[in-house]
Amino acid sequence: MTVPTKLYEGKAKILYATEDPHVLLTHFKDDATAFNAQKRGTIAGKGEINCRISAHLFQLLEKQGVPTHFIDCPTPNTMRVKAVTIIPLEVVVRNIAAGSLCQQTGIPLGTVLQPPLVEFYYKNDALGDPLLTDDRLRVMNLATAEQVSRLRSLALRVDEVLSAFFQSCGITLVDFKLEFGTDANGSLILADEISPDTCRLWDQAETDPNRRVMDKDRFRRDLGDVEAAYQRVMERVLQQAL
Ligand code: TMP
Ligand code: ASP
Repeated sequence: MTVPTKLYEGKAKILYATEDPHVLLTHFKDDATAFNAQKRGTIAGKGEINCRISAHLFQLLEKQGVPTHFIDCPTPNTMRVKAVTIIPLEVVVRNIAAGSLCQQTGIPLGTVLQPPLVEFYYKNDALGDPLLTDDRLRVMNLATAEQVSRLRSLALRVDEVLSAFFQSCGITLVDFKLEFGTDANGSLILADEISPDTCRLWDQAETDPNRRVMDKDRFRRDLGDVEAAYQRVMERVLQQAL
């Protein structure tokens, strides 16, 4: 058996080449990091859970007209994806104020943001993923003005589809982070993952501000029961038809 060529190892995933240059294989790890990898740990079963949740959500988004890199999952914690050139931007959509928005602006936790806030961060660990302004985005040439405008509208469309979907799961989609790539034709394609690692998800059946947390904030903030929360998200997501 040939050993697959590792192209890249990130904090939560490993990317392998396949025999087809247009196809890559993503392995989802159980490793978890927070605060730019200053905090490290593992969440048992996370690789499989995040892979299965991402696969379900990518298929939902494809059905709703959002192009994604998803092809299929040969095993529960691996995903075959279309090879794209990743744009080094983290596109964050916020429906409710939480996390760094509250820390940096003083906006109270839980404030409803209508219309949702769309933010662009530079994906660069060495620089600590800084928040970009429109002018910085332009000066840095990370994406064309046309691409930035399309990224914004795609991110808002993803938000509409996912917010309605999570609502049907009894979960509030507070905020999330997306990454995009371009294919050989230069078209934008949703990439990376969509999981409790990359979303804030609040259980609508809980009112307590800590108990309701079903996402990586349980790990970031040492709230406990991380695995159980991820598992519950997966069960609710997979129960809902596409
Ligand atoms: P933030 O409030 O810490 O800026 O996070 C906003 C959203 O982005 C939240 O759903 C978590 C997600 N996120 C990532 O997926 N990766 C990251 O490195 C960070 C900082 C946030
Ligand atoms: N993914 C990030 C890291 O370790 C942070 C986070 O999700 O909070 O570095």
